[in-house]
Amino acid sequence: MSDPQIIGGLEGVLVTETRLSKVEGAAGVLTIGGFPLEELAPNATFEEVLHLLWFDRLPTASELEELRAELAGLRTIPEPTTDLLKAAALKKLPTMDALRMGVDTLTLADADPSDVSSEADMIRVKSITARIPTVVATYWRLLHGQDPVPPDPEIRHAANYLYMLQGEKTHTDAVRALETYINSVVDHGMNNSTFTSRVIISTRSDIVSAVVGAIGSLKGPLHGGAPGPALDMVFEIRARADASGKDIQEEADIWAREVVEGGGRIMGFGHRVYTVRDPRADVLGTAAVKLFEGVDDTALYDDATAVEEVVLDVLAELKPDRSIKTNVEFYTALVLHGVGMESDLFSPTFAVGRVGGWTAHILEQIAEARLIRPRAAYSGELDRVWLPIEERGNGGSRGG
Ligand code: ACO
Repeated sequence: MSDPQIIGGLEGVLVTETRLSKVEGAAGVLTIGGFPLEELAPNATFEEVLHLLWFDRLPTASELEELRAELAGLRTIPEPTTDLLKAAALKKLPTMDALRMGVDTLTLADADPSDVSSEADMIRVKSITARIPTVVATYWRLLHGQDPVPPDPEIRHAANYLYMLQGEKTHTDAVRALETYINSVVDHGMNNSTFTSRVIISTRSDIVSAVVGAIGSLKGPLHGGAPGPALDMVFEIRARADASGKDIQEEADIWAREVVEGGGRIMGFGHRVYTVRDPRADVLGTAAVKLFEGVDDTALYDDATAVEEVVLDVLAELKPDRSIKTNVEFYTALVLHGVGMESDLFSPTFAVGRVGGWTAHILEQIAEARLIRPRAAYSGELDRVWLPIEERGNGGSRGG
């Protein structure tokens, strides 16, 4: 029997069923927990979205308050986690690395790591989701020589994250924009980090390990690491335009051609599943414009949309066989910059949202109880002959 065909990058391969989100790549439609993204993301609180994903329905008012209070009660991180973050800050590690290391220590917050009951797993899911913002914000402040701000149990998840980062209560437009962002990225089919978390938990490993693995996956620039470079691109093109006196469109055209003709990739464009514009880009674009109009400064937004238009034209011309459109990361950068975050916080903030999806998928995978274990077609040599080391000469063992 011949080996089945290899599907590179598992492109288009169905590996499981999920009720969490549906990604329709050709139509540019994203459904989360049964709701169109455009309806859910700008209206829901993050706690409502978590309830939807974890329990498969929107909460009533009292259930929502119960979940909010429960998560708020879990926000404090263990002391050794803070100590580790201090050590990471001394080395000035990127925030994403500190997040990965910090989340690993959350086993210390587990009352009984050997308890594998579904009740204990649910507490773990809530505990990790509640604590990730605290790990990020604590590290961020330590990195900048500031004392960490303890979580405020009275305010919502998104508002508290900004509060712990910035040390003061932020205006409601910024909180709404951040909440729209974390809702938009909470889940997205079988993306790489979600798949990673399911692969890990499918071995009956633990939930902390599955989330740590997912963070490692999200860090890469082909997944969650793109928004920082996407924003840098807009800044760089603006700087070039200011220096040359050319308009930003002309500089964007030169810049995009340089990158693509040099074999590089433009961050914030292209997607494995979407062949049309990523619907999250529209939702975040709307959130970004509201935010910038609120503070009466749309200069960056105007630059970004001008750059986007030119990049799309250049990609269409230079990669005519591909349909490379704007992805979520491009407008992520604008929204997060607009709420006052620096680019090193973009990927960790993606994790603050995506952990809702990871944990819901982990629960689905635990229920599915099936080890994920694909195969590889062997392409190495066969029938090599073993030679003792003294008989191998300098050429190693290539057989006799
Ligand atoms: N800029 C330039 N060329 C691109 C881009 C891009 N952003 N995206 C794809 N291409 C080109 C590739 O160079 C390749 O060209 P070739 O066939 O001439 O060699 C072709 O399109 C196909 O590329 P693949 O990597 O095979 O396509 P894939 O489906 O794996 O791409 C990916 C998806 C990895 C996201 C890609 O579009 C990319 O690298 N984008 C930039 C990084 C980015 O924005 N990542 C965030 C993604 S969204 C998220 O994960 C949350």
